[in-house]
Amino acid sequence: MALYSEKVMDHFRHPRNVGIIEDADGIGEVGNPVCGDIMKIYLKIEKDIISDVKFETFGCGSAIASSSMATELIKGKPISQALQLTNKAVTEALDGLPAHKLHCSVLAEEAIKSAIKDYYDKHQIAYDHSQFPDCKSCGHCCEE
Ligand code: FES
Repeated sequence: MALYSEKVMDHFRHPRNVGIIEDADGIGEVGNPVCGDIMKIYLKIEKDIISDVKFETFGCGSAIASSSMATELIKGKPISQALQLTNKAVTEALDGLPAHKLHCSVLAEEAIKSAIKDYYDKHQIAYDHSQFPDCKSCGHCCEE
């Protein structure tokens, strides 16, 4: 059996939503200190809906595929729904990732949460802090 699903290969070869949003409402950047991969997510938000999303990922193919799929899953969705997006949902949408690559999908979940938190902070919107686990204590990445 192939190591990577066709969906992973498709999103790796033809990633959706690559780029930056100059006037983004929220930007999230996370990195994994172990593999060194970095993921940056840009959000445009209108009336609580994610009207546009772009990403830049400097990392492995699974990280690129995870970012691409994650952006597709939250585009046009309410913020509340984007906050529910888990790395498991990203992995399932990609028809799976090898066990040693699951952390790549974690980066996508964390980058989106970080961008939403940035949006809330910049626009002084009150939010439930428990929705944003302290990145530095999770052991997966460091937010900078
Ligand atoms: Fe670390 Fe893919 S190998 S994000």
